[in-house]
Amino acid sequence: GVGIAITGSGSAAPAEIVDNQKLTQVVDTSDEWISTRTGIRQRRLATNQDSLTALASVAAQKAIAMAGITPSDLDLIILATSTADDLFGTACKIQAELGAHRAVAFDLTAACSGFVFGLVTAAQYIRTGVYQNVLLIGADILSRWVDWSDRGTCVLFGDGAGAVVLQANESDRLLGFELRSDGTQNNCLNLAYQAQPKELVDGVAIGHGTYQPITMNGKEVYRFAVQKVPEVIEKALFRAEITVDQIDWLVLHQANQRILDAVAQRMKIPNDKVISNLALYGNTSAASIPIAIDEAVQEGKIKHGDIIAASGFGAGLSWGAAIFKW
Ligand code: ACO
Repeated sequence: GVGIAITGSGSAAPAEIVDNQKLTQVVDTSDEWISTRTGIRQRRLATNQDSLTALASVAAQKAIAMAGITPSDLDLIILATSTADDLFGTACKIQAELGAHRAVAFDLTAACSGFVFGLVTAAQYIRTGVYQNVLLIGADILSRWVDWSDRGTCVLFGDGAGAVVLQANESDRLLGFELRSDGTQNNCLNLAYQAQPKELVDGVAIGHGTYQPITMNGKEVYRFAVQKVPEVIEKALFRAEITVDQIDWLVLHQANQRILDAVAQRMKIPNDKVISNLALYGNTSAASIPIAIDEAVQEGKIKHGDIIAASGFGAGLSWGAAIFKW
């Protein structure tokens, strides 16, 4: 069969830095509350001038350069996002921005699990021999959709983009994965269309309207993550025939430092193997795993041959894990 290797990574974040202290001008909160409960100290926020397309394209260009290919080598572009610039799809705009004229491009929506779901989706196209060079981007601008009067959610999120290039490879470096969904718990975390009935013609009221800002049951999400993430990683490890102590780096979706700590503790993974950049970025949804990976690669932490256990989890509810060799 055809193997898969991740051959490049890149990331980007908006220039604007908003620290916890500054958020006290927006809602009744404090640096102390936010940092002790979440580990977040600042986040990068997209301004009016920023776009998801631009952020994603910068991250993608870096990943393509590291992979040593050109945009015209790309066969497929998958954009994992819940905050597209255009609901009809944003991947095509990125394709144009990159000049990846051969690539097929589409969006994939799986909230904070988007990167892991995208990784597995990309891998299927490579394994079947259909495509050889795939660009996967995780990018979100949740600040557009946060309720900035709800202190329980608005302090948690930040904006950014991360990307990887996956290529067909003789040896398979994607060792195992497991994906899950549970729509019965959908109401824990939503960014839902809110229908405004509009009388279009006599007797026909269509739904017409907008999106309700993000709503979240924080305690339920916390419980879900701490229980389900270790399960799904263990399942992926089992499939990969890898033991927990062979993991070099645990890269979880950066939702909350307490979730990272609790998962690592449950799995008996020492803290020095846990990648965390929450303090600088907050929760960047689909972007958080590829940003964390890219930074760890740039810092020389993640090295060629290291075994990474990555897990995304969030709205849907959806969650998943992938075990791969860098
Ligand atoms: N500043 C100050 N006080 C606050 C803030 C804030 N930003 N937000 C809430 N509070 C107050 C509440 O009003 C409440 O006050 P009260 O006791 O007087 O009513 C008190 O702090 C406790 O609030 P809780 O919501 O019960 O706080 P909790 O201990 O559950 O912590 C948190 C909230 C951090 C969100 C936690 O539930 C959590 O980590 N959940 C995980 C959810 C998560 O990470 N979501 C990210 C998005 S989903 C994803 O990416 C998977």
